[in-house]
Amino acid sequence: MSSVPILPTAELHVHIEGTLEPELALRLAVRNRTPLRSTELDDLRRAYSFRDLQSFLDLYYELMAVLQRPEDFVDLADAYLARAAAQGVRHAEVFVDPQAHLARGVPLEVVMEGLGEAFARAEERHGMSARLIACFLRDRDPDEAEALLPRLLPYRGLVIGVGLDSAEVGFPPERFERVFARAADEGLHRVAHAGEEGPPAYVRSALDRLGVERVDHGNRSLEDRDLVARLREEQLPLTVCPLSNVALRTVARLEDHPLPAMLAHGLLATVNSDDPAYFGGYLHDNVTAVTRALGLTAEQRRRLAENSFRASFLPEEVKSRHLDAVAAA
Ligand code: HPA
Ligand code: ZN
Repeated sequence: MSSVPILPTAELHVHIEGTLEPELALRLAVRNRTPLRSTELDDLRRAYSFRDLQSFLDLYYELMAVLQRPEDFVDLADAYLARAAAQGVRHAEVFVDPQAHLARGVPLEVVMEGLGEAFARAEERHGMSARLIACFLRDRDPDEAEALLPRLLPYRGLVIGVGLDSAEVGFPPERFERVFARAADEGLHRVAHAGEEGPPAYVRSALDRLGVERVDHGNRSLEDRDLVARLREEQLPLTVCPLSNVALRTVARLEDHPLPAMLAHGLLATVNSDDPAYFGGYLHDNVTAVTRALGLTAEQRRRLAENSFRASFLPEEVKSRHLDAVAAA
């Protein structure tokens, strides 16, 4: 089968901890003497099969145990940046889960030092830019998120915004209204996972109560016509993750994926990898898979690449340069 051409793209929905490939997890487990469920690659790989979001999160939080020192975070980020760059990613706004590391005794400074070092040399080494969006874990107490926010402020420049992730159903966005308002006061960007497993009401709450500028996933918005009209009118971006949706069974088959419907509705949809080490591929692997399963046209793929830069938090003049590069590709 002929290959799908790679376009310059911004990746807006990828969790750095979700780029931990099993090979690197095993190498870091040896380096740090961290016990894992198995020391065999094949055993570990067999665990990568999920029923839903929670069954994935269980493994995701378990394997993070190998991330202990700044150099572990450097190696993790360098591996992601190299793979993303090879798949056309020119700019990445990358999620990190600080509370997941703090909760197991890894200081915020360790995480930021490692990721900051890798990101600082991304341009020179990988020909791309990268920034962080720190996510609050929605299945933990909002007070914990409020305590974290001021600790993120010294890393401004590296950390450009806040997000909301982890188990969705039962943890609606409005619980985090106060910490998102504080983040807005600090001039940070705001995004939230909503409508992955949760209902359209969670997408509305993320918009109305948290003031988010993008919705991560947002698939279930399509169940609510008025919400779709609003997303279109306000051109609120959705960061869609096709291989993730199939792996976590929010979409039965890639052939049933709502991406073409989102584009047909005029929504600012983008394609992203979410947790590429767990879900079977990086950004262009997602583009290739949806192209094959859904028959996306070259025009639709160009639209998705343009959307990714439009939806990014890059300064307007930098967006324009990237859009020119998409046009020239
Ligand atoms: N959804 C919610 N939380 C997450 C995900 C996801 O896909 N990946 C890592 N944390
Ligand atoms: Zn995600």
